Amino acid sequence: MRSARPENIRHSSDSARRPDTVLSVDPVRNPYAPGAGQRPPELAGRDRELDAFDVVLERVARSRPERSLVLTGLRGVGKTVLLNSLRSAAIGRLWGTGKIEARPDQPLRRPVSAALHMALRELTPHHRNPDRVDEVLGVLKAFALRANDANTKLRDRWAPGIDVPAARGRADSGDIEIDLVELFTDAASLATDVGTGIALFIDEMQDLGPVEVSALCAACHELSQLGAPLIVVGAGLPHLPAVLSAAKSYSERLFRYQRIDRLDRGAADLALCAPAAREDVAYEPGALDLLYEKSGGYPYFVQAYGKATWDHAPQTPVTEDDVRVAAPEAEGELAVGFFGSRFERATPAEREYMRAMAARSGETTDDMDAAVLTSEIAGALGRRPASLSPARDALIKKGLIYSGERGTVAFTVPHFGRYLRTQP
Ligand SMILES: Nc1ncnc2c1ncn2[C@@H]1O[C@H](COP(=O)(O)OP(=O)(O)OP(=O)(O)O)[C@@H](O)[C@H]1O
Ligand SMILES: [Mg+2]
Repeated sequence: MRSARPENIRHSSDSARRPDTVLSVDPVRNPYAPGAGQRPPELAGRDRELDAFDVVLERVARSRPERSLVLTGLRGVGKTVLLNSLRSAAIGRLWGTGKIEARPDQPLRRPVSAALHMALRELTPHHRNPDRVDEVLGVLKAFALRANDANTKLRDRWAPGIDVPAARGRADSGDIEIDLVELFTDAASLATDVGTGIALFIDEMQDLGPVEVSALCAACHELSQLGAPLIVVGAGLPHLPAVLSAAKSYSERLFRYQRIDRLDRGAADLALCAPAAREDVAYEPGALDLLYEKSGGYPYFVQAYGKATWDHAPQTPVTEDDVRVAAPEAEGELAVGFFGSRFERATPAEREYMRAMAARSGETTDDMDAAVLTSEIAGALGRRPASLSPARDALIKKGLIYSGERGTVAFTVPHFGRYLRTQP
């Protein structure tokens, strides 16, 4: 354990620099965590969302009218991490919870079965009537077994690990919309018995197919009318609200959308300083200025620059020069892991589209991630807009770009345009 406290370091940096008292910054104790869904050492700037969710949980458990929640935002902004924190909050209130990561072209029945099974396992130890629990598990099994239809080959048949016989005539019609309503209603009734609720978390929700989205919306709608304590909490890219309303026009009234954005200066500083202080390391103000300039407050970048800076800083407090020396390494890692890996998912035609997009984005405004008119991209490439639709649609499906407003596209990855502009 180190003896000096961070306050001491900040106020006596001169003496801290004397060789005998220098506190080196130990790479082994580097606290930062750049990575998809990696829990940050400090979840900064999300108190508003966490507090609001506490109210939702409380209201739903009391059968008060409440909308399901959907978090939207760009890549790396912290949706998954926040979703996991909301899930922990629900578990803390003895709710049953389950989580799904949606994938394109994947039917909903199997993942929903597994997630609800998990939720029931969390919930039912508090339930007094094992027969009622088994009844609902039987309905869940019936719902799950419908994932195997007549065309499913024997070796592909799914055996849900539920140890009760499947129920008959409930949640097994084969119509996903009807079946979801019945399954959710029965599951929620168990939660009512124990005075809590069930929360189903869906990450990458924009990847659900139209039939799945439509069924899910209908089920949420029905459940909220019944005042049943089951909510869906979704997370996805900025166009998720458009995906939902294309499936069901009433979805705007069904979900409360929360835009998850980059961190403001105070939160970004906290994300860096709080974990460092726990290791007795401090930052000079100039270092924090430069780190914010580099990261733009995007959580993934905050972690990436924080990590590289820590590894290069010889001693505390960390200086602006330390950040400057470390930045190329952070940029190199982002170029490979964050940007490059995504760029490589695109075909040559899609890459050409994105390059034309990058050349235009940030050209007319200060916002380097600004949306671009599709007509301008077509103009730049000397093509008719309709002929570029396949590339555009494929890029949307791959989650690399989104269309927030008709006739425009923007990158889902922050600073992606700038990255492409620096690539030969
Ligand atoms: N509030 C926060 N404070 C500090 N760091 C954060 C915060 N939220 C997320 N991070 C960090 O940002 C990175 C990205 O988080 P996460 O994977 O949750 O983003 P995401 O929005 O789900 O991205 P994607 O759209 O690519 O799935 C992780 O390294 C995580 O530790
Ligand atoms: Mg995510």
